[in-house]
Amino acid sequence: MEQLVQQIEAYKQEINLFDAKTPEAVEEFRIKYLGTKGLVKSVMGEMKNVPNEQKKAFGQVLNEFKLFAENKYESLKENHQPEADSHQQIDWSLPGDPIAAGTRHPLSIVRNQIVSIFKRLGFAVAEGPEIEDDWHNFGAMNLPEDHPARDMQDTFYISQNPAWLLRTHTSSVQARVMESQKPPIRVICPGRVYRNETISARAHCFFHQVEGLYIDDNVSFADLKQTLYFFVQEMFGKNVKVRFRPSYFPFTEPSAEMDISCLICGGDGCNICKHTGWVEILGSGMVHPKVLDNFGIDSNKYTGFAFGMGVERITQLKFQVNDLRLYSQNDVRFLKQFTGVI
Ligand code: PHE
Repeated sequence: MEQLVQQIEAYKQEINLFDAKTPEAVEEFRIKYLGTKGLVKSVMGEMKNVPNEQKKAFGQVLNEFKLFAENKYESLKENHQPEADSHQQIDWSLPGDPIAAGTRHPLSIVRNQIVSIFKRLGFAVAEGPEIEDDWHNFGAMNLPEDHPARDMQDTFYISQNPAWLLRTHTSSVQARVMESQKPPIRVICPGRVYRNETISARAHCFFHQVEGLYIDDNVSFADLKQTLYFFVQEMFGKNVKVRFRPSYFPFTEPSAEMDISCLICGGDGCNICKHTGWVEILGSGMVHPKVLDNFGIDSNKYTGFAFGMGVERITQLKFQVNDLRLYSQNDVRFLKQFTGVI
């Protein structure tokens, strides 16, 4: 027994000094010490020759020896693992994992396009708060408290007295611009607006607008028409037809709505254009003198035009989206169709 213990000590020394430079040497180590005919097995075979009263003590020595050899083997393996692994497990000929490209939201794409067209005409971008007071959203825009046209825009009120509300149009931003700037004024106001409407394929309680305002001397209705005509051609192409219809807005006089020939059916008549061949895309008009006066802009000297359009509607026509709810449901199957569209 004494002798055996010494022998084991000697093996341990040997193991300690063992250095494997290659994976083959690691394998050699395994065969020599841990293999079925290895040294660990063979000293274990000596157990039967050890007297009974010493078996327990010798068993401990053996276990320790086995662990010692196994630990060494693990550490040798570790040193050679990475190289061995990368060659064995990675198949470099397989295609890589696809990286899903992010997409811009269709409303952002179209808003950016609208903004960039008007920027080329010299319009600057103006922004304002979504929570507004009554004055900027209504009062200043020639909609006094009892004005029936307030019913046109079902308003979400946050408080009654003083009245705070979610803006119903970005005309409120025009009001803020006229309040703080002197003519010439040439701005577009993109932003989210809110109206208390039941959510359906055709209506939503929030949507997006781009409104525009141009005030200077001698701004005429002809300028309005030409500007909007240019916009439509840039947005939808040269073949689209345009028509203006007289309309009413409290903040413009005269007012007009603009229709374009239906892009879905080419004017023949379909569900989108309700079989008329035309779709309305914006409201517009010459800024009402009262609105100018509200901001101390001399309405005898200056004139201006304003317009407002819904980004959802333009996007619907551009990308043939037939349900407004798709815009806010975050369904990837919908959103990923716009991959790569800038
Ligand atoms: N503010 C109007 C709306 O939200 C749009 C509009 C703006 C109409 C400017 C005329 C002039 O419906």
